[in-house]
Amino acid sequence: MRFIFPLFFIFLFAHAQTPYEKGKVLYMEKGCYSCHGNKLEGLHRYPKLSNRAKGFLSYKLRRFRDKISDNQQQEMMIAFAVGLSDAEIENLTTYMQDYIEDALNEKYNDKFVPEGDGGS
Ligand code: HEC
Repeated sequence: MRFIFPLFFIFLFAHAQTPYEKGKVLYMEKGCYSCHGNKLEGLHRYPKLSNRAKGFLSYKLRRFRDKISDNQQQEMMIAFAVGLSDAEIENLTTYMQDYIEDALNEKYNDKFVPEGDGGS
């Protein structure tokens, strides 16, 4: 039993994904990054999506899903939005609104303390 208990928690945490994490996976899976950028920063005429109002972003995605576009430029979004479910739009827009650049979390681990005397 002592062994099974921690295993259970590892299993639980490995599978419990927040909407933000699900949105992040979707963003990559659905190829959104190819136009809007890896960091949601926007490229050329493709708008930036990071840290923008979720209400607006989901309004736009639902419109594209309903095949409504206001101009020719927006038409290319329709193909990418038609397959999205309500839950996917929810997760994607959470990811966009709350986006935090991953690079901030990828610093060197300066808390590393070498153990022992180096084997000398
Ligand atoms: C082929 C390039 C392309 C891909 C791939 C793409 N988009 Fe877009 N996206 C656009 C263009 C173009 C617009 C409209 C720009 C405009 O209004 O002038 C747009 C607009 C949007 C908007 C509305 C933003 C605004 O300011 O009006 C959202 C939200 C969005 N895209 C999300 C996504 C998501 C989520 C995906 C992946 C499922 C995705 N896009 C994939 C090109 C793309």
